[in-house]
Amino acid sequence: MPTISVYKQQLFDLLGKNYSNEEFDELCFEFGIELDEDTTEEALKNNEEPELKIEIGANRYDLLCIEGIAQSLNEYVGRAETPKYKLAAPTTKLYIEPSTEQIRPYAAAAILRNIKFDERSYASFIALQDKLHSNLCRNRTLVAMGTHDLDSIQGPFHYKALPPTDFKFVPLFQSKELTGKEVVDLYKTPEQKNNLGRFVHIIENSPVYPVIFDSQDQVCSLPPLINSERSKISIDTRNVFIEVTATDRTKAEVVLNQLVAMFSRYCEDKFSVEAVEIVSEHNNESRITPNFTERKINVSAEYINSCLGLQLSLEEICACLKKMSLHGKPAGNDKDTIEVSIPITRPDILHPCDVLEDAAVGYGYNNLPKHNKLSNANFVAAPLPINKVSDIFRIASSQASWLEVLPLTLCSHDENFKFLRLEDDGTTAVKLANPKTAEYQVVRTSLLSGILKTVRENRKQALPIKVFESGDVVFKNPALERKAYNERHWAAVYVGKNSGFEIIQGLLGKIMQTFRTSWLPDYGKDSDGRGYWIEEDTSIPTYFPGRGAKVMFRSRQGAEVKQIGHLGVLHPEVMNNFEIPYAGSYVELNSEVFL
Ligand SMILES: *[C@@H]1O[C@H](CO)[C@@H](O)[C@H](O)[C@H]1NC(C)=O
Ligand SMILES: *[C@@H]1O[C@H](CO)[C@@H](O)[C@H](O)[C@H]1NC(C)=O
Ligand SMILES: *[C@@H]1O[C@H](CO)[C@@H](O)[C@H](O)[C@H]1NC(C)=O
Ligand SMILES: *[C@@H]1O[C@H](CO)[C@@H](O)[C@H](O)[C@H]1NC(C)=O
Repeated sequence: MPTISVYKQQLFDLLGKNYSNEEFDELCFEFGIELDEDTTEEALKNNEEPELKIEIGANRYDLLCIEGIAQSLNEYVGRAETPKYKLAAPTTKLYIEPSTEQIRPYAAAAILRNIKFDERSYASFIALQDKLHSNLCRNRTLVAMGTHDLDSIQGPFHYKALPPTDFKFVPLFQSKELTGKEVVDLYKTPEQKNNLGRFVHIIENSPVYPVIFDSQDQVCSLPPLINSERSKISIDTRNVFIEVTATDRTKAEVVLNQLVAMFSRYCEDKFSVEAVEIVSEHNNESRITPNFTERKINVSAEYINSCLGLQLSLEEICACLKKMSLHGKPAGNDKDTIEVSIPITRPDILHPCDVLEDAAVGYGYNNLPKHNKLSNANFVAAPLPINKVSDIFRIASSQASWLEVLPLTLCSHDENFKFLRLEDDGTTAVKLANPKTAEYQVVRTSLLSGILKTVRENRKQALPIKVFESGDVVFKNPALERKAYNERHWAAVYVGKNSGFEIIQGLLGKIMQTFRTSWLPDYGKDSDGRGYWIEEDTSIPTYFPGRGAKVMFRSRQGAEVKQIGHLGVLHPEVMNNFEIPYAGSYVELNSEVFL
């Protein structure tokens, strides 16, 4: 979550009220931001100006500067209306050459005319760019913006991609003309490591660098690194040319909108922004940026009321939304639909649930009814049935003096296959695309490897070692949308001087008894009721030859017989692979058959 520092008195002046600490804390809390720190005490000691450090949501780019925080809080308390942003007709163009597709294909631009900065607003303008660069712009990889003194350059502008040595300019705060390559070399030095050096990698290895030229073929900027000294803006700049280049078009427009929305308030014609025509030379397509068209979405009042446990009228809901800068009005004849206009500063609103959230904040979370029989806003939580089944396994296993273990779900490919003497036919285990370590390559398809790893780490303990686990395994299934599914299993091992097969078989019997499943002799031939039996199975290489079996189960009278697990004496090679110098027996069941 970004934390924004603002001057306390400046913010209170903008809010028209000197809040006490508690009052302001409360206001922040209700609005959904958090007052992290008030530096007043410290500042008074050091003779500095007190600041407030405010934590904002990572999706609220409009709160990254004091202008936005004050605007939103003022709307929240009803002291201000949402500004009406005006777009003036373009007077210049930005041509995008097809060559830029190789490196940073998107660009947008805007002009702030007759702006009047003071020291604070100028600092805030620079700080907002930094904040956007490090948050939404992902350290300039997705989007980079440059701001220029329009009176020192001339449109139309040209955005091109050129080989590093094919252009020259004096970069910001330098005195010598350098080629693109020399600029990159300049910022690659260790002194720049934490400054512009952080962005060199974005273009360094590209055969071409993105460059913006003005009509005189003078370089304005080398995005995403640096602007030219010539077009440098200062506190006295009256006309600001803003260019944005990007690898993501939507984010470029969001960034441009935030910047002009926040700072057009300092223009002579308040909240007015001059558009720039963007001509893509690739397909001779022309459009105008910034795009001030408000998005609209329809939200059902019934949806909002039922989720919040309220019975508000359409007008009351609109009043809640207005406090959050969203403007709703009843639409259609169904007395249910609200058409919500989303201002350009709120790209975080994407779905009706986002509107719902703001309606709740506008209404006040503290005012929401706690108990309301008419609503479905109160849910009673209950464990999933499979967790109840797992708990029965756990209790029964512990009563039989087995200890529970909780190994990890990921394991190495060898642990899941080779160490268990199994072949991977590629159809069962989900594999990680880019595993960070060899220990975590696949999602386990049985509980055995985790259990044996636990035993290995505890092999110095007194024998026998009896542990169990109740946990999920994952299998591939291409027919499913997710292409895989979880299955809850239960497994137990006995490790000692002898294999203890009869002890494992005894545990299986006790577990089955707990689930009211009786042993059916003669492979269930004499009965067609609920029950289980075991059948020799020589196909499981994990077990000692002739000492492996499958567990068969019939859930009720006449039901189909299913294999639900297996048990046996673990093959000595398997024990060896896990460095366990003892014998052991193992049982594993699919718990979900007991649901
Ligand atoms: C941007 O860079 C800084 C410092 O190098 C780093 O701490 C931060 O996590 C990066 N932010 C993103 C979004 O990558
Ligand atoms: C691009 O469009 C403009 C205006 O529509 C037109 O005058 C011009 O000839 C077109 N250029 C190309 C290369 O198609
Ligand atoms: C401008 O924004 C509106 C609303 O988000 C969108 O429908 C429209 O396509 C955009 N126009 C351009 C030229 O991108
Ligand atoms: C909202 O619903 C009204 C009435 O049904 C309709 O006229 C309008 O186009 C809808 N707006 C959106 C953004 O879907």
